[in-house]
Amino acid sequence: MTAYPTSTTSRDYTVSQTATCSDTFIGLQAKIADNTAVVGVIGLGYVGLPLAHALHNGGMKAIGFDVDARKIEAIASKQNYLRHLGDEMIESLSDSDRFEATTEFDRLGECDVIIIAVPTPLGRHQEPDLSYITDTAERIGRTLRPGQLVILESTTYPRTTRDEMLPVMIEHAPAASKDLVVGEDLFVAFSPEREDPGRKDHSTSTIPKLVGGLEANSTSLAAAVYRKGITDVVEVATAEIAESAKLLENIFRAVNIALVNEMKTVLTEMDIDVWEVVRAASTKPFGFMPFFPGPGLGGHCIPIDPFYLTWKAKEVGCSTRFIELAGQVNTAMPEYVVDRVAGALNEHAKPIKGSSILVMGLAYKPDVDDTRESPSFELIKILEDRGANVEYSDPHIPETTRVRRHDLEMKSVDLTPESIASFDCILVSTNHAAFDYAMVAEHAVLVVDTRDAMRDHHGAMGDRLVLA
Ligand SMILES: NC(=O)c1ccc[n+]([C@@H]2O[C@H](COP(=O)([O-])OP(=O)(O)OC[C@H]3O[C@@H](n4cnc5c(N)ncnc54)[C@H](O)[C@@H]3O)[C@@H](O)[C@H]2O)c1
Repeated sequence: MTAYPTSTTSRDYTVSQTATCSDTFIGLQAKIADNTAVVGVIGLGYVGLPLAHALHNGGMKAIGFDVDARKIEAIASKQNYLRHLGDEMIESLSDSDRFEATTEFDRLGECDVIIIAVPTPLGRHQEPDLSYITDTAERIGRTLRPGQLVILESTTYPRTTRDEMLPVMIEHAPAASKDLVVGEDLFVAFSPEREDPGRKDHSTSTIPKLVGGLEANSTSLAAAVYRKGITDVVEVATAEIAESAKLLENIFRAVNIALVNEMKTVLTEMDIDVWEVVRAASTKPFGFMPFFPGPGLGGHCIPIDPFYLTWKAKEVGCSTRFIELAGQVNTAMPEYVVDRVAGALNEHAKPIKGSSILVMGLAYKPDVDDTRESPSFELIKILEDRGANVEYSDPHIPETTRVRRHDLEMKSVDLTPESIASFDCILVSTNHAAFDYAMVAEHAVLVVDTRDAMRDHHGAMGDRLVLA
């Protein structure tokens, strides 16, 4: 046995290093195998809901937990609150006698397997906010009992599962559960989520799932659970490898997007079309992977997750210059785009101040209604600060709701020949498939395109089109 000291509580816990199979392990293994294990999913959002659905489809009995009572009511009344998932998901869960959703966290004791999919945002100073994880760990702790497997899915920095989540669980556990040994009585793992909302070629059940436990028995049980609903489950040696792999995946994207955004600023000055350049480079069958420029980073993951590693790096005395540089380049993109809009209006003898501008697309990526960290909000704010009269159009978002840094209180404008023609400039920020780009090309006075959405209309638009 090895006792790991923790930084967050005075109490040590014990992780078995023997990998022998206790009766508790064998019992839980059997329950998972014959679908008598109850799986609780905490956090029924973009990640938790499809995961509960996939495991339920695999024959497991599932209980969904959320602090948001509106989500529980929506499931009960078959109202789909995540439109990109389609209505069938909520309907099949709601109709099933193997699924229920609740706000009653004292029922966590009923669950043999508990999967945590709660938010991991940044605080006001870009520091990791683990409060959702620690609150959840406290709730799990209160009813902790032998024979439970707890899996963290929320994206976070390495060692969170071991050093932050487990100690809080143990600290709040009933006296009888304080001395549970991980790997013998209790099992703990991390499995990163790779959900990509709106993607049509992959779903929760087909995206390969990494699983790493605090020791071997936890890995093996967690993998057995996921194999119920997911085709390809990949076991890795530790929770820390799984935690770090997730950060590497998202930092890889953030850095490469920054690289291509930087290329865009240089090539645009030289009158070279960056999208054509990326497509040309993509013909190389190895050693290159295409990333496309845009107006900035959006979504719950790519703009946020890199800062989790940056913060942890400081704690261990390292710097993350690459990651921070990528952050600076990507964060500067909305200003760059607005400068391009100002330049384009200038060519049409108009100042940005007093001009009417329509931002096409409020979601952070095509064909979803997710506005988290969307650069469109930043674009609207900068344009308004420079005196423009700004409206937006997004078929997926009829009106704005408050997001982390913005509360716009705006309503979507319908795209018609008349509305398009009424704006001094149209700024394409998100390339939704539902937009009628031919109509925009025909009626717009001026279009600034950050997404290469107007590619088919370059010839017809001439100098009414500017890439940004
Ligand atoms: N959305 C994605 O595409 C995606 C992809 C990969 C990883 N992730 C990660 O998965 C995690 C969850 O993200 P998400 O997109 O599903 O978030 P989300 O906001 O869609 O869902 C989180 C849910 O947790 C609930 N919640 C908040 N606090 C809670 C608490 N204390 N107890 C129980 N429920 C609580 C919220 O009401 C919400 O329903 C995050 O760490 C995120 O970084 C998300």
